[in-house]
Amino acid sequence: MSPTNKTKTIVVLHGPNLNMLGLREPDVYGYTRLAEIDTQLETLGKQWGITIQTFQSNHEGAIVDRIQAGLGIVDGIIINPAAYTHTSIAIRDALLTLSVPVIEVHISNIHRREPFRHHSMIADVATGQIIGLGINGYYLALRAIADIIGATPS
Ligand code: DQA
Repeated sequence: MSPTNKTKTIVVLHGPNLNMLGLREPDVYGYTRLAEIDTQLETLGKQWGITIQTFQSNHEGAIVDRIQAGLGIVDGIIINPAAYTHTSIAIRDALLTLSVPVIEVHISNIHRREPFRHHSMIADVATGQIIGLGINGYYLALRAIADIIGATPS
């Protein structure tokens, strides 16, 4: 296998309170549990020959640590920083360290919600955003990043 067609690795990062998906404000976030989303991403990843690593934390520093751990290892990042979207310079800086494609996902349409949710600290360092399409946003993000990193269906 040449270095160019080595298996790609995508890390999927979930921020605070996303461990409560399915239980938390289901009118906003739906009834699907995070474990189901992660399993589905792993299944879809296999179809693209992509290794999916998933990580959820309620702690900003733990998310920064996980991003840093991917330096030189991961080919792309899908991240829903949840509430840290609106506040975290630390997560923004960590993403910039890696220089890999980043897709920002939000289950809800943050622009239709409270004004404090309208601004994302990572929007301008992300390759793209998928917002307001429910949990499908994660699967669309994987499809998009597969293209961007040149993964091929296996
Ligand atoms: C969210 C939107 C954020 O404003 C919120 O704090 C979340 C989830 C979303 O996926 O819609 O926790 O990122």
